[in-house]
Amino acid sequence: MILVFFGAPGSGKGTQAHELKKAIKTLSHISTGDLLRQEITSDSAFGRSIKYKIDAGEFITDDIILQLVTDILRKKSKKDIIFDGFPRTLNQAIAFDALLGVENLKVDVVFDFDIDVHELIERISGRYVCQDCGAVYHKKNRKPRIDSVCDQCGGTRFIRRQDDTAQALETRLKIYREQTLPVRDYYKDKGVLKKINASQTAAIVTENIKETLRSAGLMKEGE
Ligand code: AP5
Ligand code: MG
Repeated sequence: MILVFFGAPGSGKGTQAHELKKAIKTLSHISTGDLLRQEITSDSAFGRSIKYKIDAGEFITDDIILQLVTDILRKKSKKDIIFDGFPRTLNQAIAFDALLGVENLKVDVVFDFDIDVHELIERISGRYVCQDCGAVYHKKNRKPRIDSVCDQCGGTRFIRRQDDTAQALETRLKIYREQTLPVRDYYKDKGVLKKINASQTAAIVTENIKETLRSAGLMKEGE
């Protein structure tokens, strides 16, 4: 099963990928943004070469992203995967189809996270992440169960993403409108696009995603 979580910055793609993985144990989660941030954190030569772009909210080239995805897809033995934040240009979408075709796979469902831009600003400005495991929180909407202790790993150090500034967000939204929105029409034409109201609480969004998967026969009742 190949799922794509498609949506603007802050629409909840990462949060929902994390929730769905809890319900479907075989699923893995590939976030190109997380992969790029890991490179930056590890201070690799590649990480250093992309840091300024990521921090400014600009895209990394299609060639680099496609190479990253190709490498990781090859390594996965079980191909039940959520792609989060990929593909996000038309070129990436077309190349992704070709890549999946080689493995006799296809995109099953693209979830289109629909949300108002004002809510995105509120979500992005309140987001913070665990420095140790990357778990995502929000100062109002999604706090750890125990104050200042990560639910996932018990870590106590939290940071804000470098691209979660007002200026970088403006760039990210502009690029999203110009380069990423055409991908939505590409998948709409293929009949795999499912719109999700991403303004609802995280629990309701998760339930709607599961319901869509059950209706498509991709998830069992009770899972
Ligand atoms: P990436 O990491 O993919 O960032 P993004 O697409 O901008 O999306 P975000 O991670 O900001 O938001 P999200 O939708 O995951 O929301 P989240 O769940 O965190 O990419 C980063 C950068 O990498 C790009 O700008 C680009 O430079 C580069 N890049 C990556 N992929 C690329 C590609 N394919 N091509 C080229 N360049 C690429 O939620 C946000 C906040 O809201 C959190 O605080 C959360 O707790 C809260 N929240 C979540 N759901 C809810 C809810 N239902 N109700 C209330 N609050 C909620
Ligand atoms: Mg994310």
